[in-house]
Amino acid sequence: MLKVGVLASGRGTNLQSIINGIEAGEVPAEIKVVISDREEAKALERAENYGIDAVYVNPQQYDTTKDFEQALLNVLAEYKVELVAMAGFMRLLSSYFIGHYRNQIMNIHPSLLPAFKGLHAQQQALDYGVKVSGCTVHFVDEGVDTGPIIKQKAVEVKSDDTEKSLAKRILNYEHQILPEVIELISKKKVVLKKDNTVRIKE
Ligand code: GRF
Repeated sequence: MLKVGVLASGRGTNLQSIINGIEAGEVPAEIKVVISDREEAKALERAENYGIDAVYVNPQQYDTTKDFEQALLNVLAEYKVELVAMAGFMRLLSSYFIGHYRNQIMNIHPSLLPAFKGLHAQQQALDYGVKVSGCTVHFVDEGVDTGPIIKQKAVEVKSDDTEKSLAKRILNYEHQILPEVIELISKKKVVLKKDNTVRIKE
């Protein structure tokens, strides 16, 4: 069983989608630990509700980013985590952290990358006037939302959309593709090719 560690900063609906997929028997993985950089994150509460260990790592307790990341890495190592899923984790990871989990960290982002990287991706999509946006699950590299794309889902942008309504519509699909990707990874169907693109095995 694939050992997953989830990093989350907020309400944790994406975490919930992974939990649901596992509970439904669709995702052959186990969430060993949920880690948050925010004590009040609802994600921690959700984990506890399911008997999953929830750990708050306070960034303010560390002098440097490296020390903070080392604390995260220590927790992940303690739980023998094999795949790190960033589910609304609002921090960039440095190459120090990424080097420890090369191509074993994935992130969910609410746009069709490479468009609209970074914060407020849904508002960026509205401001640009695109008619289709969506969400992306990708491996994490040193850039901001730049890593190899594993799976995407397109979502229509409606003329009367607000940031909130578009975010909500996209979120439904985030909840679909995030557990799907963990399922694919746990079934060893995700192949990262030499050219840094991803092929999904049938
Ligand atoms: C999601 O929109 C995700 O794509 C973005 O942050 C949000 C997190 O939502 N990275 P939640 O905490 O999983 O509910």
